[in-house]
Amino acid sequence: MEALFDADFGAREPRRLAPGAYHLPGWLEPRQQRWIVERYREWSQGPVPPRGARVAGHEMSVKTVCLGWHWQPYRYTREASDVNGARVLPFPDWLVRAGRLALAETAFEADSYTPDAALVNYYDGSARMGMHQDKDEKSTAPVVSFSIGDACTFRFGNTEHRNKPYEDILLASGDLFVFGGPARLAFHGVTRMHPGTAPAGCGLPKGRINITLRETGLDA
Ligand code: SIN
Ligand code: MN
Repeated sequence: MEALFDADFGAREPRRLAPGAYHLPGWLEPRQQRWIVERYREWSQGPVPPRGARVAGHEMSVKTVCLGWHWQPYRYTREASDVNGARVLPFPDWLVRAGRLALAETAFEADSYTPDAALVNYYDGSARMGMHQDKDEKSTAPVVSFSIGDACTFRFGNTEHRNKPYEDILLASGDLFVFGGPARLAFHGVTRMHPGTAPAGCGLPKGRINITLRETGLDA
C-alpha cells in the first residue's frame, strides 16, 4: 500500500522507468480499445478457449488465449496440447503493425519488429500474476504490452530476482508498456486489480485484458 504514495504511482505522463522499459499511458484511443475488445470476444470463441495455465500444480487465476503460438509452461507450441489439442489462431497482421507503431515510440528499432506470438490475458477482479520473467522466447526482441479495462498495479522489477528493487505502477485502460534491451528479462507481475476502474467507452465493462506481443525466434 505504501506504493500508493510514491510520486510516480498513477503518473499519466510517458515515462522511461529504467533503460529499455517504457510506460505510455493512454496510448490506445478508446475507439481502438473497443475494437480490440471485439477481437478478444472472437478469439475467445476458440478453437482454443481461454484457460488458466497450470504452473507448479496450480491453475493461474489469469485466463489466457494465444495467437500465433500457444504458450504453456514453459514453451511455445502450435497446438494447445494442454487444453484441447487444437491449433491456435494465426497472428494477425494488424497486431504486427500495432507492435511496430508502439516500438516507434521508444528507442527500439521498430521496422524490423515481427512479433509472432501474443498472450491475451483476462483478469477478473481478484486475478493476479506472480513475479516472473518472460524467457521462453529465443529472440531478444522487446515485449510490447497493451492493457484495456480495469486498472491494475503492475510491479516492474530487476533482472536478478523477484524481490526489491522494483517499482509499482498503475496500468490503466489504453496503456502501452514496452520492455526490451537491458530490461527484457526483468521480473514483473500484477499484484492486484482495481475493480470498477474501467472507463466508460473502453468496451470492457469489467475485468482487464492484457495483450503481450513477443517474437518467439522459433521457425515457422
Ligand atoms: C504478463 O506478464 O504476461 C502480463 C503482464 C500484464 O498483465 O500486464
Ligand atoms: Mn510476463
